Amino acid sequence: MKIVIPGGTGQVGTILNRALSRAGHQVVVLTRRPTRDGEVRWDGESWGPWAEEIDGSDVVINLAGRSVSCRYTPDNLRAMMDSRVRSTEVVGEAIAGAARPPRVWLQMSTATLYAHRFDAPNDEATGIVGGGEPDVPDYWSYSVEIARSWERAQEVADTPHTRKVALRSAMVMSPDRGGVFDVLLALARLGLGGPVAGGGQYVSWIHDQDFVRAVEFLIDRDDLRGPVNLAAPEPLPQRAFMRDLRSSWGVPVGLPATRWMAEIGAFALRSDTELLLKSRRVVPGRLLDEGFDFAYARWPEAAGDLVRRRRRARRRIGAEVPSLSGSSGGGA
Ligand SMILES: NC(=O)c1ccc[n+]([C@@H]2O[C@H](COP(=O)([O-])OP(=O)(O)OC[C@H]3O[C@@H](n4cnc5c(N)ncnc54)[C@H](OP(=O)(O)O)[C@@H]3O)[C@@H](O)[C@H]2O)c1
Repeated sequence: MKIVIPGGTGQVGTILNRALSRAGHQVVVLTRRPTRDGEVRWDGESWGPWAEEIDGSDVVINLAGRSVSCRYTPDNLRAMMDSRVRSTEVVGEAIAGAARPPRVWLQMSTATLYAHRFDAPNDEATGIVGGGEPDVPDYWSYSVEIARSWERAQEVADTPHTRKVALRSAMVMSPDRGGVFDVLLALARLGLGGPVAGGGQYVSWIHDQDFVRAVEFLIDRDDLRGPVNLAAPEPLPQRAFMRDLRSSWGVPVGLPATRWMAEIGAFALRSDTELLLKSRRVVPGRLLDEGFDFAYARWPEAAGDLVRRRRRARRRIGAEVPSLSGSSGGGA
């Protein structure tokens, strides 16, 4: 298949590009700064020659959007909203204008759409959309509004020949550098992987291999459309999540952090505490109903696999360093 991935240069795009290319598909990434084969320039805002890539393709997976790992200032929130809504609109326009539109358009969304809650898990049928929770900072509702507007931009796109699926994804855990697992593991290794603000808030997550398999499942299943939660079936409280991560790496302790310490840490990391403090209890109702089989349904096994792969990658890099310096010495 020819698969076009707008915004495919980031963490999730790298995971998908690697897996889908390895499976023999032709992958084209739309990016604002193309640097390698298979990348085509677009601006995420306006129609351009890039739309020819979509015409005649089989699948479009739109991931574009300003990173959410930033301080939630009014300017950054606006950029998070505009980059998602506008890029989705323009992808929809390209599909609508295609002589041979793709069979399916998978549009990234987010599990952040659901309410901050502890009492019950959110699936697609019974889940509560966030925005009206008491006792949370006002600006959290804006993240929900971004997710709703993002999904609405896909819903209203006039693309009658293309099946549309919104991927309400939880955090995608992969051992790659710079991803969310990398950041959490680094904190755990520094001894900072303890409960934050009590650690009762739920963490929803999905292992990278299950994320790819779920995307392939949704591409194949012509009968599935609309919002689909991409999350492992067993979200768990943050304190248990970090405890399992620490024990996978072999870190004996994790210092607890209060809400205020988290604020300071998030400020230092130029990130936002919503990412740490919001209780995301999201489950994959539709995937399970449709018979999707998770390879990593439980966090301890997933964390164990990610840690093993991370260690293998470190050993490979370690083994390459002497041989690289050896070969350059020989050539000199
Ligand atoms: N990572 C997760 O666990 C996770 C979970 C749920 C949802 N999501 C969502 O899934 C999407 C992909 O996640 P990711 O972690 O791969 O994000 P990422 O690493 O930040 O990559 C997003 C891509 O969007 C493009 N982009 C950034 N600002 C843009 C703008 N103003 N206009 C157009 N394109 C822009 C960038 O591509 P270029 O700079 O090359 O143009 C970038 O590579 C994001 O929208 C994210 O919110 C991610």
